[in-house]
Amino acid sequence: MRTAICPGSFDPVTVGHIDIIKRASKLFDHVIVAVLVNLDKKPWFTIEERTDFLRKATADIDNVEIMSFSGLLADFAAQKKASAIVKGLRAVSDFEYEFQMALTNRKLDSNLETVFLTTSADNMYLSSSIVKQVGALGGDVSPFVPECIHDEILLRIKQRSNMK
Ligand code: PNS
Repeated sequence: MRTAICPGSFDPVTVGHIDIIKRASKLFDHVIVAVLVNLDKKPWFTIEERTDFLRKATADIDNVEIMSFSGLLADFAAQKKASAIVKGLRAVSDFEYEFQMALTNRKLDSNLETVFLTTSADNMYLSSSIVKQVGALGGDVSPFVPECIHDEILLRIKQRSNMK
């Protein structure tokens, strides 16, 4: 049984994340999507919202489980007996940071490999920050987030923008 972890902030989940999670689910027996609780940057969405959005958006994928974690990813991976971390790579700009994290995680646990999946061409530019920025400025975020959670995400972005 090969378990992989797809870690991230998912603030909020995008169609780009779902594409990577779906592809990881075909490569591994069990995929745990691990949502980081305490972000350095203050999240727009609570941990409950971020995990709830992911649960709804992955409901059709049998071998995917959504969990939250805090602390070191390497410790969480060991606790879950995962052999790999799966991350999506969009552009060269992602590489340096991802490379640093992958090497750190393997230093912390020599058995823990990081597998990079190249993003689908359609999602090259996409990020959670783009979704928040476009939504807060009244733009259409429907191409960027899973359809089943679009309305909830938009409502929360609007509520937050009005609070400012
Ligand atoms: O979606 P993100 O913000 O790129 O995800 C970053 C994440 C959650 C993968 C990264 O911040 C992380 O693994 N944090 C846990 C703390 C940790 O293990 N740090 C050491 C490895 S750099």
